[in-house]
Amino acid sequence: MRRCVCPGSFDPVTLGHLDVITRAARLYDEVVVAVLENPSKGGLFDVEERIALLQTEVAVLPNVRVMTFGGGLLVDLCEQIEAQAIVKGLRGEVDYSYELPMAIMNRRLTGVETLFMPGEPGLSEVSSSLIKEVARYEGDVSSLVSPGVWSALRERLDR
Ligand code: PNS
Repeated sequence: MRRCVCPGSFDPVTLGHLDVITRAARLYDEVVVAVLENPSKGGLFDVEERIALLQTEVAVLPNVRVMTFGGGLLVDLCEQIEAQAIVKGLRGEVDYSYELPMAIMNRRLTGVETLFMPGEPGLSEVSSSLIKEVARYEGDVSSLVSPGVWSALRERLDR
């Protein structure tokens, strides 16, 4: 079975993430969305909430499943679940500079490949952190997340 991992914090999942997950699901038999559990990072949503939001969004994709991972290396997770590749979206040069050393390190560690998928141009400004910041100051980012995530964001930010 051809299986890939889409890892990230997903705090919260954006339309940019969903674009990459959907496209990966057309290329692989199974896509495992791995949600980084990092209590020290102190997200807006806890890991269970991030997973619940993701699960709702990927429910239409039968070959996508969502799981947590924490405290270990991504390459070890790839070995455990027998994933041959890591798939990441790239919005531009900054993402490339951040992702490239990790991709090289991961390949050096176990041979796992990282495939970079160009982000949808209309979604190139979308990041979870920007969305949270703009939403916090009452800006409208409803076109960059799903309706469910938008309502969860508004509820969390008490708007
Ligand atoms: O969405 P993010 O927070 O940018 O995702 C980063 C993530 C989870 C992909 C990265 O931090 C990661 O792979 N962490 C797991 C620990 C690990 O394997 N570190 C070594 C990378 S070479």
